[in-house]
Amino acid sequence: MIRILGIETSCDDTAAAVVADGQTILSNIISSQNEFHAKYGGIVPEIASRKHVELILYVIQEALDKASVTAEQLDAIAVTNRPGLVGSLLVGLCAAKSLAYCYQKPLIGINHLLGHVYANFLTHPHLEAPHLSLTVSGGHTLIMRVASPTQYEILGSTVDDAVGEAYDKVAKFLGLGFPGGPIIDNMAKTGNPDAIEFPSPLIHSDDLNFSFSGLKTAVIRYVNDEQAAGREINYPDVVASFQKAAIRVLVKKVISAAKEQRVSTVTLSGGVAANSALRETLIQDAQRAGIAVYYPPLVMCTDNGAMIAGVAYHLYQQGVRSDWHLGAYANLPE
Ligand code: KG4
Ligand code: ZN
Repeated sequence: MIRILGIETSCDDTAAAVVADGQTILSNIISSQNEFHAKYGGIVPEIASRKHVELILYVIQEALDKASVTAEQLDAIAVTNRPGLVGSLLVGLCAAKSLAYCYQKPLIGINHLLGHVYANFLTHPHLEAPHLSLTVSGGHTLIMRVASPTQYEILGSTVDDAVGEAYDKVAKFLGLGFPGGPIIDNMAKTGNPDAIEFPSPLIHSDDLNFSFSGLKTAVIRYVNDEQAAGREINYPDVVASFQKAAIRVLVKKVISAAKEQRVSTVTLSGGVAANSALRETLIQDAQRAGIAVYYPPLVMCTDNGAMIAGVAYHLYQQGVRSDWHLGAYANLPE
């Protein structure tokens, strides 16, 4: 049995997990920093890295304790080293290097995107490849062709804001709280998605790219105009209409990509994969096109260490090892 510790600190979640053979989750500890960022309505990178420093050793210890595994018994130590907030990544990376050095264990640097993709391999062991992955989070909006747990190709991405970022910024503007995704998801259930016709940017472009900054601006302009005209704002209608415009373009593009690529499976991952309307719409439209949809449970949608340890198992088996020069990178490719 190969037991790998996975450390994830690329954004604002301090996370560590122990996974056996890339499949059995022995522990999965996530310490969310939401309460520290909430009053700013978004993630403050300096606060994120400072909180990671405070939390990381406790989170790692808890992951080992919960898994009933000692550091000596680990086969490797895996850590997200790209892409992400560099100050945040560095904390996990330093912790991973220190442990690997002290206990003389192999160190394996992991691409965060492969981690999100792996959340589905962890949840659905018989998931076929190639498939398409729609990875949607606070930092990413990507359509990827996944050839195996360690190989992917980006087919399309956002040219400006990530979709989760748009959720968070709209929620911040409306004064709803942080993170905006789950709040809007809930509030939209009581609103009318057809109340306001917001644009879905790039919906008619013949590539697989996205743009969400214009949609966010359209929502802000609508609310400002309505308020200036002395009309009362129906918040549930605004967020339901915003959400419909965002989801429409995500679903349309991933389904047309699946047809184009002749693959019959689509997976959802990343924090926004928790969105109930996105799941429903994708499942419905995919079914009509004869495409199967898989998504992970909520805890696997957002950042976690298990998905990192899972990818690491496959790299470990391929003989991939990182050295002490392993760096932290804000962007891909590295
Ligand atoms: O994957 P994640 O934890 O971190 C990043 O790598 O970004 O994703 C966080 C993002 C936030 O923007 C949050 O608002 C969004 O995922 N999110 C949601 C929902 N739950 C989380 N967006 C829409 N609906 C949700 N239910
Ligand atoms: Zn993420």
